[in-house]
Amino acid sequence: MGLINLLSGNRSENLFLPAHGRGDSLPENLRKLLKLRPGIWDLPELFEIGGPLIAEGAIAESQKSSAYEVGVDRCWYGVNGATGLLQSSLLALAKPGQAVLMPRNIHKSCIQACLFGGLTPLLFDVPFLSDRGHSFTFDRKWLQRVFNKAKEFEEDIAAVVLVNPTYQGYSADIESLIKEIHSHSLPVLVDEAHGAYLISRIREDLPKSALFFGADLVVHSLHKSAPGLVQSAVLWSQGEMVDPFRIERSIELLQTSSPSALLLASCESSIKELIETKGKKKLISRIEQAEDVSKFLLSNEVPLLKNSDPLRIILHTSKFGLSGIEVDKKFIKKGIIGELAEPGTLTFCLGFSSHKGLGKRFVRIWNEILKSSFAHQKLCSFTRPPFSIVSKPFMPCASSWGSTFEKVSLKDSIGRISAEMVCPYPPGIPLLIPGEILDEERVDWLREQRSLWPDQISDFVRVIF
Ligand SMILES: Cc1ncc(COP(=O)(O)O)c(C=O)c1O
Repeated sequence: MGLINLLSGNRSENLFLPAHGRGDSLPENLRKLLKLRPGIWDLPELFEIGGPLIAEGAIAESQKSSAYEVGVDRCWYGVNGATGLLQSSLLALAKPGQAVLMPRNIHKSCIQACLFGGLTPLLFDVPFLSDRGHSFTFDRKWLQRVFNKAKEFEEDIAAVVLVNPTYQGYSADIESLIKEIHSHSLPVLVDEAHGAYLISRIREDLPKSALFFGADLVVHSLHKSAPGLVQSAVLWSQGEMVDPFRIERSIELLQTSSPSALLLASCESSIKELIETKGKKKLISRIEQAEDVSKFLLSNEVPLLKNSDPLRIILHTSKFGLSGIEVDKKFIKKGIIGELAEPGTLTFCLGFSSHKGLGKRFVRIWNEILKSSFAHQKLCSFTRPPFSIVSKPFMPCASSWGSTFEKVSLKDSIGRISAEMVCPYPPGIPLLIPGEILDEERVDWLREQRSLWPDQISDFVRVIF
């Protein structure tokens, strides 16, 4: 089947990203635009339109207005997802040779920025929930311990990155973490790819965006957590710690020279949807609907895990001895497509569209899966990753990645240095990065991970020759 046919067909229940649900909840003005003569909107940086880095024009005005509405100093729209803007942020924050403190559940894009920016990732461990195999949030005390340990590396630390909320929708007390980082006079970049909707501040009981607690840089993926088109994203900046000129230089380094006006218009409209009354009302109602779905599932004994994002439903498959990856395939066969299949869970993203009748259908499919899979109520336990509280690659990331390499089987890789990143996607969290040493413990753990993610982790690893 050709790609065009694939894109135009199939009306399954979309519980995956982008969050606009195949157009169902795109902002109204964008839907109108897309209904005009096909292609009329496909424009580059024309004079009146401008671009994210051009001081004059509609995009400059729009970025100014979005920043003002949200209450920060500046923002830049992006057309290469949160990936592109996280990478530009890192290049703006740290110079070649400097280190950046980042959690082990960092998205791979940040490690890639370290590769091409000549930065040292100082990776710190995060709490691990062994009943489901997820990284979890940490508190200020944990971060203080990280800082104490990081000092021993005697690196020139330029900045700290936080990931909040996580892909599954767990959220930390971000205010106290930002305070701790600022007490070390360091800037903080928050990867809020999954939390754009938090700028809406629609309910007191929901987490708040790091923007409201003085984070220096915050990146939102507007297709993951707002109703934007795929690839749309925004970088917000505030305060004096990061020079906007450095940010713009870094965006210029990575951005296409022909950013799509359609994607930039989608950035504008999805942000507006989050801050204007009509969009906020819609979001409140979607969240209430999603909460009703969760309540219904729980009351029908579907094993859901708690998180802080009502629009993300985590099915705890390993509670019944089932892999989320296998359960995902069964849901797909029955017409429900989830977002994040992992060994212990399957996360569904309800996004911004309505899902009438989902609860009953979900319960029926889950019960069929249970019946047909020899499921047993046995809580699997996942091995905690063998990470030290803080670690630094044995060799620089960039030179390791660029080295001559050979492919060896995982079991024969003990004592070798990795020339690649091992990273199931999604969620895109690296289990091994270039320059790290494969000691026995890591190899055992990676082999175990391979058995849990058979299609995503190879039996081979590329190591420095
Ligand atoms: C935590 C996190 N940050 C960043 C990204 C990258 O987002 P995008 O797809 O918009 O480039 C992802 C994507 O999965 C992610 O999970």
